[in-house]
Amino acid sequence: MRSQEGFTSRIGFVLAAAGSAVGLGNIWRFPYLAAKYGGGIFLLTYFILVLTFGYALLISENCVGRMTGKGPIGAFRELCAGRRGFLGFVRIGGWINALVPLIIVPYYCVIGGWVAKYCFAMATTPVGKFAGDAARHPVPAGAPVSASAAYFQNFITSTWEPMIFFLLFMVILVAVVALGVQKGVERSNKILMPILFIMIVGICVYCAFLPNSGDGFVYYLKPDPSKFSYMTVVEAMGQLFFSLSIAMGIMITYGAYMRKEDDLVSSVNQVEFFDTLAAFLAGLMIIPAVVAFGGREAAEAATVGLVFVTMPQVFACFPCGQWVGLVFFLLVLFAAATSAISLLETNVHTIGQELHLPRKKAIFICVAEIIGIGVITVLGYSVFSRVHPLAFIEAYRDKDILDSLDFISNSVMMPVAAIFTTILAVAVVGLEKFSQEIRQNSRWRREFLFQLCMCVVVIPCLLVVLLRATGLLK
Ligand code: ALA
Repeated sequence: MRSQEGFTSRIGFVLAAAGSAVGLGNIWRFPYLAAKYGGGIFLLTYFILVLTFGYALLISENCVGRMTGKGPIGAFRELCAGRRGFLGFVRIGGWINALVPLIIVPYYCVIGGWVAKYCFAMATTPVGKFAGDAARHPVPAGAPVSASAAYFQNFITSTWEPMIFFLLFMVILVAVVALGVQKGVERSNKILMPILFIMIVGICVYCAFLPNSGDGFVYYLKPDPSKFSYMTVVEAMGQLFFSLSIAMGIMITYGAYMRKEDDLVSSVNQVEFFDTLAAFLAGLMIIPAVVAFGGREAAEAATVGLVFVTMPQVFACFPCGQWVGLVFFLLVLFAAATSAISLLETNVHTIGQELHLPRKKAIFICVAEIIGIGVITVLGYSVFSRVHPLAFIEAYRDKDILDSLDFISNSVMMPVAAIFTTILAVAVVGLEKFSQEIRQNSRWRREFLFQLCMCVVVIPCLLVVLLRATGLLK
């Protein structure tokens, strides 16, 4: 049975899918990777990969959803029906695609809670408190523990505060999803996405006028081939998975919500464009500011703490920093919320469809799952700080609960899920039939590129990501 729910218009699909894609991956992860891996050369590598490898997977997932009208499990099951041997086994890919968002949503809500706390803190705490001496004497990121790092550490290691913000973020998320696909998911994205882009552009303009930001623009925009290594490609590939919401079941589900008569090719092109634009602008607002604050060394030393530790220090050094900081964290909050909505919507759809449950009951099960895993994740920095779920693997023995969930879902399950989607399109459905479905109602210029990527590029690239993540490739 096809999904009963759906988007009311093509623009509804585009904004919801772009809302899903534009998230913490763009604003928290992309700028730190771009800063760390050489600025311009990372940006160029990322662009090339999005237009080839990323595009092929993005359009494939939407096509699988639209073809079947089902979520990941149902779609794989339907397309593999009647197949034996390995091609029958490919249906397991549906389960892997469906499991990924179940793992991600709880910790995404935990990070969403951190962002909510920073919005609150920016509105109520003098920004100098985050920065201490750094406000007066800028120091490169990575320097001995700053006031800002201590502030962040104290917050995440306390028991109740992160729990309250996690639950707050989750309640808002559930309220939106409970309103349904059209009134909740589609409408919230129609409102939040334009606001988000206006805020990013506003902060980019502010950063452009900061003293000494010029060198940051050069660092970010001018590719320096001497900084290129194969890690640039591997990291860019891993990033685009997370960023485009590939291999999380989301794009299959949103494809199922798409109307049959809509133009799949141009919708996917627009999602790809908005997501890449958001990542590019996020780099443009963060990297020049970081370079203006602490020089190129600060950018090259960027870590995952860039948004929560370095940016508050940066804001503390510049005029109107507190208010710009508030707008900055609000935009991160909106981006996190629109992505979290899509992750939760995917889970609700899958559970409802597979267990034949009404939407309300499916939401109830999802909430229980988020609270169960989310509470353990929050406590992973306090009560359960000695718990290291991957301690049996030497290289990952120190990973905390959140990092372990992130590693299992992003680095292991997502490449595997994408390998199955590729095999589904190429070998189970057949590339010609698959392309025909995409071509319906569309003018498709990148068909040859798509077929080339699906046949020869995607699987080797995915294997490299997987081998690298599991430590088998050094
Ligand atoms: N694509 C979403 C993000 O970038 C999950 O955060």
